[in-house]
Amino acid sequence: MTARSVIWHDVECGSYEADLSLWRELAAQAGAGPILDVGAGTGRIALDLARRGHEVVGLDADAELAAELARRAAAADLPVTAVHADARDFDLGRRVALVIVPMQTLQLLGGPQGRAAFLRSAARHLAPGSLLAAALADAFEGSVDDERTERPLPDIREVDGTVYASHPVGVRREPGGVVIERIRETVDPAGTREAEGNEIRLDDASAALVAAEAEPLGYRALAPRRVPATEDYVGSEVVVLCRG
Ligand SMILES: C[S@@+](CC[C@H](N)C(=O)[O-])C[C@H]1O[C@@H](n2cnc3c(N)ncnc32)[C@H](O)[C@@H]1O
Repeated sequence: MTARSVIWHDVECGSYEADLSLWRELAAQAGAGPILDVGAGTGRIALDLARRGHEVVGLDADAELAAELARRAAAADLPVTAVHADARDFDLGRRVALVIVPMQTLQLLGGPQGRAAFLRSAARHLAPGSLLAAALADAFEGSVDDERTERPLPDIREVDGTVYASHPVGVRREPGGVVIERIRETVDPAGTREAEGNEIRLDDASAALVAAEAEPLGYRALAPRRVPATEDYVGSEVVVLCRG
């Protein structure tokens, strides 16, 4: 039986593809050694890069997601090691060739202190000249209704006869970040319908801010990259840091 956290993760993140070409490009340019995917979830990117011949370490703080990543990698015989750890304090016991932080995971670490703790942990795993790249959501203000004339379509999947739908319903500003509000709704094979609220807070962070935070920690900022917005997802600015 698939864990609910795994299903909701796949519903809300699994179909995003706009960033894949950037991570593939950075992975192809990295030196020898594994690629560390921080906040890897169930492996949307880790498995994609492994299918292209890269060794990948996928790190996630959610034990169920890390276990599912390990299961999927083993089932597909792909070179992915899943690590259950917090990005703010981890020790892989080895160096990596590249660190990537897709889909705003850097904005889930609890603000400047959490980001600094992560950047220090990551620096211990990077040789001089190796890169760390992290996607940061473009700023969005107001509610979903303020920004669009129509509500965005829900993310939907069907698993074992139950339909899972996640509806974005609002964006609320708080000091230092925004809270994205969703309604998670299920309809089981008997037609029973259940709904519950879900919120995720994204810390405010820009490439310029993260570059300034990273400099005293031994990184040099390169030109930021962009992931374009799609109909369903905001665009991202990708901060690219080189370990000094
Ligand atoms: C928005 S999802 C992105 C998942 C995946 N990288 C993708 O792009 O599809 C954020 C992920 O970061 C993980 N995460 C959140 N806080 C974390 C932390 N402190 N350390 C490691 N992972 C964390 C979550 O469990 C979740 O899997």
